[in-house]
Parts: sequence; structure tokens; C-alpha cells
Amino acid sequence: MKPKIIVYMRVDDRVVKELEKHFDVTCFQHHEYLGNPAFDNALKEADGIIGLALKVTKEILDVAPNLKVVSNVSVGYDNLDIKELTKRKIMATNTPGILNETTADAIFGLLIATARRIPELDYYVKSGQWNISLQPNQYGVDVHHKTLGIIGLGNIGQAIAQRAHFGFGMNILYHNRSRNLEAERTFGATYCELNDLLAQSDFVCLMIPATKETEKMIGQNEFRAMKNSAIFINGSRGKNVDEEALYDALINKEIYAAGIDVFTTEPTDPNNPLLSLKNIVTLPHIGSSTTECEYRMSKLAAQNLCAALAGQKPPSLLNE
Ligand code: DGY
Repeated sequence: MKPKIIVYMRVDDRVVKELEKHFDVTCFQHHEYLGNPAFDNALKEADGIIGLALKVTKEILDVAPNLKVVSNVSVGYDNLDIKELTKRKIMATNTPGILNETTADAIFGLLIATARRIPELDYYVKSGQWNISLQPNQYGVDVHHKTLGIIGLGNIGQAIAQRAHFGFGMNILYHNRSRNLEAERTFGATYCELNDLLAQSDFVCLMIPATKETEKMIGQNEFRAMKNSAIFINGSRGKNVDEEALYDALINKEIYAAGIDVFTTEPTDPNNPLLSLKNIVTLPHIGSSTTECEYRMSKLAAQNLCAALAGQKPPSLLNE
């Protein structure tokens, strides 16, 4: 009998076909919750789960007694209760490394789109409003040679710094758990305490993983510490930011604009007040979502899953 696996959202079709050769596969394409009989039944028998953003809680694990591995198709693993998985000797894996450049492209694109008001002006053209010359109140702001403060100079943060420094002549500030001397040499980056970074940056880019400690790390005080002309970019996780405080900062013009790829709850509620604002550019969490990158991630996640179910150490194991 083949081992049973759950494929949970966003695994590349080609990879699913490969998996089907070795495993008995049940696919779920949308968010599923306990209580859905098909999902509960699949969990009861599953040896492995591969996919994106399934919140693997104690409650889920209680109905999955055979589970040996949860393979995330993402580098972030804030959806996994690692402590609980480890306690139950269930392997957890992710897909680091292969999405750095793709994600940095997306976040830098978001930064430019926000600064130059690209979605708003795209709508202006397409809706037939461009019948007189552009007015000064429609201008954006420069990106090149400005100061970019990166909170969380991990691999993706460094790929953003590379684009900013070499491509746009930007001055880089960073705040991190530890200093990164290599980045200081390569990008001329300067380490700053958080408040100094917030006060000095024209662009504040949040790139930290989400943990209990980072929840709402950027809130009212942090927005007030930023320049009124600052642009805030969130390429990390929505939970790291107090969305109500972000709304207040934007509506009260405490900051100039924001570009966010992530929300506290995803998909976000269409009535989320942030969506009513003109000075915010939003994306549906697409940092790593290109055809090529999603395929690379699916393949690595499948390797992780296969290794674990063969009793081997997966290439990107999160818990020993
Ligand atoms: C990641 O890989 O963590 C991306 O944000 C997708 O969740």
C-alpha cells in the first residue's frame, strides 16, 4: 500500500503528478478547516502533508495520528507549531534559499509601485481620465539615492539591499538580530537601532520572520517615529504589523504611503479599511509567486517530503 499524503494548495501540477507515482494523494485547493469531513478523513490517514500555509496546530495533529512530515512550500513557517511537531516526532520542512531573488524582485517592485503611484496612475490612464496634463498632486517621489532602512537583513533582505545599492544608488540602513559585516562591506550598509532606522529612512522595509515576539512589532509608536514622507513596505508577514495603526498613520498622513504584500488575515476581508485608502498599494502575498519560483519551491518541498517518508533526513529540515 502506498503511503497517504495530503497536497494542500499551491503545489505545481507537474510535481503532484510525480508524487502520485509514489503516494496515495488527496488534494485540497483551498483553505480547509477541521470539521470538513473530507479534510478530517484525509488527516486521519495521512503520513505526510505538503503545501502552503496550512495552520498546523495541536488540534490538527490530534486527528492525524500517522503523520510523519509536514512539508511547507514556503520559506516562512509561522503556520507550524514547531514545538508541538517536535514533541510528536513529526518532521517539519521548508523551502529556503531558492526564492530570495524572486521575492526581492517583488518587494522592490512594490516599493517602486508605491513611490511612483503606479497602480493609481495605471487606473487613471485605463479609465480614460488622462485628458489633461498630469497635475503636481499626482506626482510620486524619487526612489534613487534615497535612504532605505531594512528591518531583517536575512537572505531576502540582502537581495533587496543589493538591488537598492547597486541599481538605485540608495543608502542602506539595517536593523537585525546581529550585525552583518559582509553586508556592511558589500552594500555600505549601516547597522542602526530600530528607532534610529525609523527616524532616518525614506523607505522602511520590513523583512523579518513572524514569531510571537514580533507580533505587531510595527505599531503606532513606530509609525510616529517615521518621517511624514516615509514609505512603509511590508514583505514579511501581516501579523508583524498593527493594521489599525497602519490605517491611522496613512489616513492621518503620519507617513506618506505604504506597500504591503501581506495581511494579518489572508485572504484579507474585502471590507478591510486599508483597502479604501489611496496611499496604499496592496498585493495578495505574491513575494515568491512566479511560475519558475513556485515550481522550484514545489520540487524542493517534494524532495523534503519524499526523504522524510523514506526515513531519511530531508534537505531542509526545521526540527531535529
Ligand atoms: C514564503 O515562502 O514564506 C512566502 O512568503 C510564501 O508564503
